[in-house]
Amino acid sequence: MPVQSVMDKLKQWQSSGPNYEPVGHPEDGFEKEHTTNKRSRLLRPAIILGSLLAIFLFLSSGGHDSAKPIVSSKETLLPPAYLRMVYPVGYADANYCKTILSSAVLNYPEPMLIGFSGKKQKEENVDSTLDLAQRISRKTSILGIDKHLRNISTTRDEDLVIIADGLNTWFQLRPQTLLDRYFESNRDADERIRKELGANADVLSIRQKIIFGAQRDCSPWNAEDPACSAVPESSLPNNIYGAQTDAQAEEGKDSFAKHRPRYISSGFAMGPLKDMRKLYAAAAKRILGDQHLQDEGKVLGQLFAEQEMARESYKIPPASPFARLGSWLSSFWESASAVEDRQAQQLRETDLSREYAIGLDYASGLAFEAAHADGDMEFVRFGDAASVHAANAKHGIADSRISQIAPDVGASLPPFWTYSREILPPRNTSWTNVSLLTNAWTGVTPAIIQHDPSNQRTGSQRETWWANIWYQKYARKMFDVHVQSPIGAVAVSGYDAASRRQWWGIEDWKGGARNETKFWHRYEDVCGGTETEVFRDSRGPWYLPSNH
Ligand SMILES: *[C@@H]1O[C@H](CO)[C@@H](O)[C@H](O)[C@H]1NC(C)=O
Ligand SMILES: *[C@@H]1O[C@H](CO)[C@@H](O)[C@H](O)[C@H]1NC(C)=O
Ligand SMILES: *[C@@H]1O[C@H](CO)[C@@H](O)[C@H](O)[C@H]1NC(C)=O
Ligand SMILES: *[C@@H]1O[C@H](CO)[C@@H](O)[C@H](O)[C@H]1NC(C)=O
Repeated sequence: MPVQSVMDKLKQWQSSGPNYEPVGHPEDGFEKEHTTNKRSRLLRPAIILGSLLAIFLFLSSGGHDSAKPIVSSKETLLPPAYLRMVYPVGYADANYCKTILSSAVLNYPEPMLIGFSGKKQKEENVDSTLDLAQRISRKTSILGIDKHLRNISTTRDEDLVIIADGLNTWFQLRPQTLLDRYFESNRDADERIRKELGANADVLSIRQKIIFGAQRDCSPWNAEDPACSAVPESSLPNNIYGAQTDAQAEEGKDSFAKHRPRYISSGFAMGPLKDMRKLYAAAAKRILGDQHLQDEGKVLGQLFAEQEMARESYKIPPASPFARLGSWLSSFWESASAVEDRQAQQLRETDLSREYAIGLDYASGLAFEAAHADGDMEFVRFGDAASVHAANAKHGIADSRISQIAPDVGASLPPFWTYSREILPPRNTSWTNVSLLTNAWTGVTPAIIQHDPSNQRTGSQRETWWANIWYQKYARKMFDVHVQSPIGAVAVSGYDAASRRQWWGIEDWKGGARNETKFWHRYEDVCGGTETEVFRDSRGPWYLPSNH
């Protein structure tokens, strides 16, 4: 079945790494009052469950063909938790507005902004070096994220945090698909870690919990730096881009264009609050302690490389025949409690301080990093054979990779499904009838597109793609619909059948974003003036719908 083979491909390619440390909770002292506050908020999911069930019933009663209910009333779920969107972003411009708008039309929760100072003031400075440096070097975002994560109660440790660059991120697929892929990628990585570390993977509790985007070049480090050479190879097949995979490009071509993504990208990260807090606390500490590490990409690259080096040391050394005989013999006479003691001893002696549970999204199913890779992408309407054929033909790949829509996309709530009967394409229009930006070499349709922060050129792919992204023509209406729709869980997902739960936004308000000190920045307040670029419909600024 071709659908299965797409899944298998994705499975086979996704992987990664990491772990997590079973020691105590990282600090977090302040804000206890916040806790009580939140507990009462958690009652909300129960109240709104009713309206959700209504949707699921609609979906399962044949409201349309392609979507399945995301939860059945028979299933036992863990208590609901929050999906926290955190966008580091200095100021609002058209790119910020696209990030906010794209997450809203797909029904992601409204985000928390880190380091935001409102509307961009000096337009004329767009291309100045100073501005570029400010855009790329984001030391302050690590400190801001760290501060924000520490300001959340440890009672919320199981919440999921998504960190996305607030100027360079476009959402393309539903939160349901993103979360399913996150958990799937973790499961696959854990399997791989178990193969590599043997019993130590479980004894030391080495798992993947945090996923970062994967990029082709190692910037801001240089290729010779240990932070680059120490990281593992991509888990994509080593001929994925043909015979030239990983080879230096011909003169005059982008020298990274055939490299498999292998390096950490700081533009997208996703993981449980507890693990993210530990990672960002470590990163913040380094930034403050070392003046050569003032860039978030540098710090995160270093932490990832150290984790990978530490993991090498957890590998069970290839035993000598004599030692193997010894352990075989001891398996006969060692009691279960002796085995436990030995493992406990091993655990105490292992230094897990460099284990952060980080892995990369090598298959780019969560977030596609466009830097040095935008030439690989095509807009594909999977239900249209001519569109699929054209995408394949353009890249001349012998065994065409683009065939069927990924099952986890097709099964999510259809693109134009809304509560209200707004004038949009039919709500049962399926995902196979909209154009999805898809990687021609891997066949993978990413949930998120992460643009290269250093590429702000006019006329770049970034600008032309916007007109083709599936919701752009309907964005104004879909934004209205989003703002008016009731609050509900945005996804139901989990690591395994026993750990599925509903995921809710933390924010009750819609059509904007909040900053660290809870100030609500309405979309229309900071995005006025961007509508020509964002909506491209000559209908002026977007305002909150009057019947809201
Ligand atoms: C959508 O629903 C309408 C009627 O409700 C039906 O006629 C149409 O065939 C459906 N379209 C798709 C793509 O399922
Ligand atoms: C796909 O959408 C277009 C318009 O958006 C519509 O005309 C067409 O009938 C749809 N096709 C299917 C198979 O739903
Ligand atoms: C920490 O959280 C509290 C309560 O939500 C909030 O009032 C305060 O502004 C936050 N402080 C920082 C620095 O984020
Ligand atoms: C949040 O926004 C308000 C209004 O612009 C501002 O006064 C406040 O300082 C901001 N908070 C932070 C932490 O930047």
